[in-house]
Parts: sequence; C-alpha cells; structure tokens
Amino acid sequence: MEITLTAPLDMHLHLREGAMLAQVAPLSARDFAGGLIMPNLVPPVTTPERLRTYKEEIRQAIAPHTFTPYMTLFFTPHYTYDFLAQIRDEILAIKLYPAGVTTNSQEGVASFDLDLLAPTLEAMSQLQIPLCVHGETNGFVLDREAQFLPIYKELAQAFPDLTIVMEHITTHEAVQTLLEHENLHATITLHHLFTTLDDLAGGLLRPHLFCKPIPKRPEDRQALRELAFSAHERVMFGSDSAPHPRSKKEAPGCAAGVFTAPLALPALVQLFEEANALEALQAFVSDNARRIYRIDPPAKQVRLVKEPWQVPESYGDVVPFLAGTTLSWRVDAL
Ligand code: DOR
Ligand code: ZN
Repeated sequence: MEITLTAPLDMHLHLREGAMLAQVAPLSARDFAGGLIMPNLVPPVTTPERLRTYKEEIRQAIAPHTFTPYMTLFFTPHYTYDFLAQIRDEILAIKLYPAGVTTNSQEGVASFDLDLLAPTLEAMSQLQIPLCVHGETNGFVLDREAQFLPIYKELAQAFPDLTIVMEHITTHEAVQTLLEHENLHATITLHHLFTTLDDLAGGLLRPHLFCKPIPKRPEDRQALRELAFSAHERVMFGSDSAPHPRSKKEAPGCAAGVFTAPLALPALVQLFEEANALEALQAFVSDNARRIYRIDPPAKQVRLVKEPWQVPESYGDVVPFLAGTTLSWRVDAL
C-alpha cells in the first residue's frame, strides 16, 4: 500500500541557525515542499538584513532539496505601514509572541492594549500579511491557552480582514473559538495530536515531550483530532518541530520543544489511517495552507509506503519524538 502527497507543507517550523540548522533543515526539506519558518532566533528576526541573511543560510542548508522557506518576521508594534510595504514580498506572515511565554520570546509583546498594536495590525490587514500568534498568557500553565482566547476574539473582531492564525492549538475551547470567527485559522502539531499531559508527566517525566503549549487532557486531544481528521478548511498542519540539543532537554531546566520534522509525515499517515481519515490528509498537510496563505509551493510529490520504519534514537544530538518506536509507514526514497 502507498500514498502520495502533493506538496506537503509544514506551516510552523523552527530551523534555528548555525550547526543546528545545518543538521535539521535537510530533514524537513527532504519530506516537505515548504515550511513557514519561525523567527524566534537570538536576537529575533526583525530587520530586512537579518531576514535575508537567515533565508540565505536556510537555502544553503537545504540544497539540493526542493523546499520553499516561507519567511516570517517577529512581531513588534514598531513596524510601520511603509516598512511593511517594503518587506511585504519577502515574508509570508508575522509571528506574534507574548513576552516570555516560550523559547526566545523575551522581546515579544508585553501588553495587548489594542490601541498600541492597532497601527501595525491595521497595516498588516491592508497589506494582506497574515498574523500568526502564540496564544498563551503567563497564567497557570494548563489554563494559558484558554485565558488567551478572549484576545483572539478581540483581534478577530477588531481586524475582520486580517488573516489570523492560532498557532499550535491544544484545547477544545480553542477549537470552539476558531469555529466562531471566520478570519481565525489554526495550526495543529503532530505531538498535540498524539500526546496528553499523561504522556509527559503522568509516569516518569519525559523531557523530550515537554513543549509550549503543554499537552492537555484526552478530551482536548480528541477535539484536535476531530478537527484534523475532518480537514476543516481553516486548519493546517504546522509541526512546531523545535529541536534542542539533548543537553538542554535532559537537564534540570528542560527547554520546551519537540523535534518531529523527520517523522512527521509517516506518523501523520499512520494516525489518519487508523482513524479512517486518509482522504482528509492532503487538505490538512497542503491544500488548506495553499488557500489560506495564497501560496503555490513547488509541485513536489512525496510518496509514503506502508512498511515498518523505526524512528532513529537520535539525529546528531537531538532526540526526536517517538524515538526508537516503529511506525507502520515510511517515506519512500525520492
Ligand atoms: O515548545 C516550544 N518550543 N514552543 C514554542 O512556542 C517555541 C519552541 C521553540 O522555539 O523551542
Ligand atoms: Zn513554535
């Protein structure tokens, strides 16, 4: 048995820089036709120069694979209409992080006073630049996403023409909010489709499953699965694949992030097949994103075959999600 996906896209991807980028980027570029590259570097990507240098570094790392890096800027309320108009063709979206909620987000937004954010958001709306949001507050860890939902509603109502993407949603409440507003969209990760808080912390602590937002309850995971398996037209796959070296994960202060890129497609096919939802997979991993972001990725066909494949224990010094387990699908050599 086999399945061919046309232009699979990963619409939320951390590639890092330097040696880590060189190590992980080819793994995404092998399996995907493109990805939305997150800007939470140190310092974050906020200038045209940094954006161009970063894109060039990615290009060199992914050769010879066919893969389009769709670039993002790190949101600041200082971006003016003129600045954005000039950089518009070099980015696909702008990513907003609340200050301090996750890895390298210290320079994020400290206040959601819409009067402060409005000029930049209005300019983005006029220039048709989508806004991607890490939607968590600094509240109690299990409630952070739910506490952020009123901000999503406010943004959706105040900027009805702005394309807003709720990144890596994890709760049934977030699914409900998404359904209520036409200009809200969402990405769902692989690890939030697979895990709940029990997998991370219900037995022995599993640092390689630790991420932000934290995985939630079984009924939350079920709501995410139903949304993905129905390939709702405003939902896309975004892995949030976020590599950290083993020394940063197996540590007293464990870094947040799950590395899923090299096994994302086989694991998705397995999950969708088990749910009898394979016919929704093409829309979930490509077609919806193409429509939402108005992109035309390379016409890359990725074939998966139903043969046992053991996920490697590590890629360099990065331990992947599901390390050492055997999946029932593998990506065919291209
Ligand atoms: O777990 C996470 N890791 N969540 C994020 O939002 C950021 C990411 C990272 O960059 O490591
Ligand atoms: Zn992320």
